[in-house]
Amino acid sequence: MSPASTPRAATGVHAVAGALSPALRVVDLARRAPSIRNSQPWGWSVDGTTIHLYADWDRWRRRDDPAGRHLLISCGLALHHAEVAARGLGWEAVVSRFPHRDGARHDLVARLDLVPSFSSPDGAAELTALTQRRTDRRRFTSWPVPEELVQDLCASAGDRGGLAVSLPDVVDRFRVQHLVGLAQRLGGGAPVESAGGPRWLAGTGTSVEVHDGLVVLCSQADGPESWTTVGESLGALWLTAVRRGLAVVPLSQVIEIEDTRQSLRSSVLGGLVLPQLLVRVGWQPIGHTGLPRTSRRSLESVTRPRPTTTGPDGARPGTGPGPSGP
Ligand SMILES: Cc1cc2nc3c(=O)[nH]c(=O)nc-3n(C[C@H](O)[C@H](O)[C@H](O)COP(=O)(O)O)c2cc1C
Repeated sequence: MSPASTPRAATGVHAVAGALSPALRVVDLARRAPSIRNSQPWGWSVDGTTIHLYADWDRWRRRDDPAGRHLLISCGLALHHAEVAARGLGWEAVVSRFPHRDGARHDLVARLDLVPSFSSPDGAAELTALTQRRTDRRRFTSWPVPEELVQDLCASAGDRGGLAVSLPDVVDRFRVQHLVGLAQRLGGGAPVESAGGPRWLAGTGTSVEVHDGLVVLCSQADGPESWTTVGESLGALWLTAVRRGLAVVPLSQVIEIEDTRQSLRSSVLGGLVLPQLLVRVGWQPIGHTGLPRTSRRSLESVTRPRPTTTGPDGARPGTGPGPSGP
């Protein structure tokens, strides 16, 4: 590992817990990002106003996510949330993505340098949405989401370099509904609940219903950079949805299972782009009380130096010359 990529411990997290430095406040808020199975597969180092974001391959569930796609989508979400947090606190984050990509390393996802900027009402509203966002798997109402609104969400993803495809067509939606059900059967049912973790059971938001807005986040290529961009785009789409009063639920199983992913690609997306994540969008009933927050790793534990640099068997996707490589 080159000296520049060596993770450093955040200095004095304990000592300054009552009055965090701006960079630590940014990390503290970015911890709220959604992640695959709430795995929070990231680590941060802070040095003055410079922040490094690392993928934490010790938290990789290789069995469910063999390519590491969803781990890096989660890291992209954390990166997006860090930028939103910085803006909301009156800073601008100058981001360098995969600064060591020529060395075929994909554990350093991004370097962020905070520079003073102006607070804006929009930045404050986005930060509020970040703190309010939850994965709301409760049944949506039957009010359809206007296609114009879904297109706005897709445009916000596009602003972050992603490609979000809305599926208003009834035949496409029927195919997606079928593929989501098939993925659940092939995957042995919905993932089980873990202590304090997500509840992904059939009938609790994991199936597609007739009035749902449906969006597929796609990319032209498969690989760490593309997946991180998908995560950043999903972050933008999700916070835009929150600001419009909409709930979002990602459905990853149809992508995790290669057969259903390929069918989604060929029968719904015309074979033109690679599907990376499906999301349902809908309205919760007025007056529905808020959901409790899911738990997060402490600021202290995510800002420690990463304990190891390798995955369970010493391998990490994106480190070799294979399709996930640079
Ligand atoms: C890449 C990715 C894939 C996800 N896939 C699913 C899914 O298939 N089903 C589901 O119910 N939630 C899914 N989620 C939502 C996470 O479970 C959720 O973000 C996490 O439990 C934290 O909860 P929160 O979003 O309420 O903060 C996914 C999230 C991410 C980032």
